[in-house]
Amino acid sequence: MKVKDERALVTGGAGFIGSHLVDKLVDMGCEVVVLDNLSNATTEYIQDHLDSARIEFVKGDVRDFETVESCLEDSSLVFHFAAQYDVRKSVSDPIYDFDVNVNGMINVLEAMRKKDVLNIVFASSGGTLYGLADAIPTPETYPPQPISPYGASKAGSEMYISAYCACYGLCGVSLRYANIIGPRSVHGVIFDFYQKLKNNPKSLEILGDGKQKKSYTDVSDCVDASLYVTEKAENGFNIFNIGSEEWVTVNYIAKLVINELKLADVEFSYTGGEQGWIGDVHLMLLSISKLKDLGWKPKMHIDESIRKYVKWLVGKYGRV
Ligand SMILES: NC(=O)c1ccc[n+]([C@@H]2O[C@H](COP(=O)([O-])OP(=O)(O)OC[C@H]3O[C@@H](n4cnc5c(N)ncnc54)[C@H](O)[C@@H]3O)[C@@H](O)[C@H]2O)c1
Repeated sequence: MKVKDERALVTGGAGFIGSHLVDKLVDMGCEVVVLDNLSNATTEYIQDHLDSARIEFVKGDVRDFETVESCLEDSSLVFHFAAQYDVRKSVSDPIYDFDVNVNGMINVLEAMRKKDVLNIVFASSGGTLYGLADAIPTPETYPPQPISPYGASKAGSEMYISAYCACYGLCGVSLRYANIIGPRSVHGVIFDFYQKLKNNPKSLEILGDGKQKKSYTDVSDCVDASLYVTEKAENGFNIFNIGSEEWVTVNYIAKLVINELKLADVEFSYTGGEQGWIGDVHLMLLSISKLKDLGWKPKMHIDESIRKYVKWLVGKYGRV
């Protein structure tokens, strides 16, 4: 799939991963249209590109057919990154999750079909799609067994991309992400710990028993790998795990965050149980053999990614 110098629509392009992707696409000479309803973002991280007129921004919803259609004028590919991203929200409101994630997906695909746009890259989710896999590291061939509506919405979205590739000649790339961390992110365990410690630097509540073990990937590696495999993708439907070979426990992250914040004598408390919340995939490590066979490997180690992200949080939101 050709990316360099193409005109691309990025849905969710004002958000965490999406805005990093937009930076890279601009560097690659792409014309970029960002469609985002700003439900979980502002234009802060794409503002420089807007000021220099290097991208277009449309405030709108991926469920609105005419809006998506109008954003596709002259585009050759779509990066579909807009989503309801929160597993817990999907458990409390599965209909909303389905509406944004699955209806949003088919709406984008239908608009593409109508406008003859043939290439789609989708931000899927490895951990939540595989569920509690008994093969770890989990390869792309493992059957999806989601344990949350969010995971189901990602699996369902992938199935629609597969069908559109088969029926209408699209080329699709599904990027099954590990947990992605780094500057601009305002969700996930590290952000949660930072906020809690800012409120009270003497105690930290950990969801679950702290032994949940998961893989975390720096956003710079995530975007780099995403574009690398996209450019290698062939006709039809392609699936790639995007992650690293390292995984750490939640307790390990807590200690690293505390160390980076230079705090001492922090008392831990636990809500208990193997899972942090209903739908939590408490053991997650993706196989990246397919990525490595294509010639890509992660550049950032997990400790340096976590430390870099905490430094950014302190710079942005203040010292603890
Ligand atoms: N961050 C991770 O660890 C992770 C892991 C796996 C998959 N993903 C997927 O990657 C994508 C980006 O995630 P993120 O972490 O950057 O989250 P994010 O919330 O920062 O980005 C999503 C963006 O989509 C926008 N959006 C939400 N609903 C919309 C709608 N109906 N119409 C238009 N825009 C809408 C939000 O305003 C936001 O800017 C999502 O699809 C997410 O499910 C993220």
